[in-house]
Amino acid sequence: MIFPFFKNKHKQISSQLKVDIHSHLIPAIDDGSQCMEESLTLLRGMEALGYEKIITTPHIMSDAYQNTPENINSGLKLLRNAAVNDGITMEIEAAAEYYLDDHFYELIKKGELLTLKDNYILFETSYFSKPLQLEEIIFSITSSGYIPVMAHPERYRYIKNPLVEYERFLELGVIFQVNLNSFAGHYGRKARELAFFLSKNRMISFLGSDIHHKKQIDTLRDVFNSKEFKDILKNNTILNDTFI
Ligand SMILES: [Fe+2]
Repeated sequence: MIFPFFKNKHKQISSQLKVDIHSHLIPAIDDGSQCMEESLTLLRGMEALGYEKIITTPHIMSDAYQNTPENINSGLKLLRNAAVNDGITMEIEAAAEYYLDDHFYELIKKGELLTLKDNYILFETSYFSKPLQLEEIIFSITSSGYIPVMAHPERYRYIKNPLVEYERFLELGVIFQVNLNSFAGHYGRKARELAFFLSKNRMISFLGSDIHHKKQIDTLRDVFNSKEFKDILKNNTILNDTFI
């Protein structure tokens, strides 16, 4: 057992960022953690960084990960039990990261979506091509009473004119969740540049770990310790802690 005193000693995280809203920690249901031991390693790493609450977000993507509220919630139950038995005290919840495909469109119509807090929907698109009906889908999300949160807007290669395209998303009611590790270049140079672009233009509403693997914990620590990190928090109105 690890005593709380020793656990607190190495906390790195800012007091503005106690809640993580994007990760893949339920074992073997997507491309994140593949077994409970791996999930516990990741949870211990997040707790050591200072996170107090994790809302984990398995992929729902009809071609690859056919997850449902039922299997996500039963996976969450197992994860919580294993975490408690391991002495982890972080609060753990689950929602989903929705890929915008036809299946998603049906789920909106049925109102069967897993939300962050009450009505925030975390979504992603193809990295390479902008969905043809993206604006219509976003409209269907907002007109159904949800707030669309675009996961890692800095990672989409189809963004050619950042100012125009990001401003258009904001006009449509989308808010942005940038991956913390993008600031360290974890997803390449272009994603790093766009993450800083979004920060400088004060466009970021959420910062997420998007944790899939252990190596990403070390990168997160580097980001929290970087000299730029304070500016990112200062420039943007970060909403993570409204989800506590
Ligand atoms: Fe993700």
